[in-house]
Amino acid sequence: MKVVLTYNLKKKDPLKPADYFSECDSQETINSVVAALKKKGHFVEAIDVEYPELFSYFKNNRVDMVFNIAEGKHGRFRESEVPAMLDYLKIPYTGSKTFSLALALNKALTKKILKAENIPTPNCQLFVKGSEILSPNLTFPLIVKPNCEGSAKGINKTNVVYDKESLFEKVRECIHVYRQEALVEDFIEGKELTVGILENGSIRVLPILEIDFSNCKKSGEYFYSWKMKEFQGNAEMGMVPEFFCPARLDKEIEARVKDVAIRTHRAVGCLDISRTDIRLDKNNTPYVLEINPLPGLDPKESNFPIMAYAAGMAYDDLIEAILISASERTRLN
Ligand SMILES: Nc1ncnc2c1ncn2[C@@H]1O[C@H](COP(=O)(O)OP(=O)(O)OP(=O)(O)O)[C@@H](O)[C@H]1O
Ligand SMILES: [Mg+2]
Repeated sequence: MKVVLTYNLKKKDPLKPADYFSECDSQETINSVVAALKKKGHFVEAIDVEYPELFSYFKNNRVDMVFNIAEGKHGRFRESEVPAMLDYLKIPYTGSKTFSLALALNKALTKKILKAENIPTPNCQLFVKGSEILSPNLTFPLIVKPNCEGSAKGINKTNVVYDKESLFEKVRECIHVYRQEALVEDFIEGKELTVGILENGSIRVLPILEIDFSNCKKSGEYFYSWKMKEFQGNAEMGMVPEFFCPARLDKEIEARVKDVAIRTHRAVGCLDISRTDIRLDKNNTPYVLEINPLPGLDPKESNFPIMAYAAGMAYDDLIEAILISASERTRLN
């Protein structure tokens, strides 16, 4: 099969903010996906979304399947750009479609759908101007997040706030720096979990990954902040979260967490693959923070491959499983 990998390469540009390229993929990830596809016998090309002739390439070349990990270029619908172009050209691609990608990138809108489906998600309020009245439904501590970012961009330990004054200061900073609404949520203090779903005709939930930050006290970081994601593994900085996969959960809670992840995947209309971020509160209720239809696929660093390895899959098999799921779906439609 001729497969084209679409991606955004992570670059270094000292003139850009430190988190500017955080959502993009490293050269190692791109090389690893290409190598896995080749090993499985496919003819593979890899194209950066920045390539100026992207549209002409797809218009003029026969492509059987696009393996899409592209974050896109601009704005809050960026992850839908490549899929929209491929839909227009009737070229099949792996993973979720335009609508689900755009929806999942908008945390507040996603949470409205989760609420409608009775899926627990932290109480929240969206601040557009920063002068709104704080909703009585929220309880300190709260966390402030840009509404339409990923890779924990704009989420640092100072984003967890304990009083109104620091809340509004953070909300205004978030609106100003990220030029978008600030989402404010109850901060859920319990275990951090992430749940990988990989479709293979039916929905398959991978072993749940628990990320324990209790070893990271030296760093001052205590949740999956931008700094933690960026520097995880750096022992000098004290950024050494412990991973437990499967998570240390009793059977009943494990089943509840998996059920919530499946229902989230379905509610958002994800296809082939997704990773749902969850926190347990003190009553072990699984609160969905968000769903990632394009989870990171770095073979060493990303959460999703860790879950696949725990399920006994090698990296190449994970990549092929995504491709097979998309191919089967395309064949049946
Ligand atoms: N309501 C919350 N309660 C507790 N912790 C939270 C909450 N919201 C976010 N966090 C912490 O911040 C991290 C990043 O938040 P979130 O997953 O919403 O952002 P993201 O930028 O979309 O992340 P990703 O890197 O997965 O794309 C979470 O993994 C968690 O550690
Ligand atoms: Mg997340």
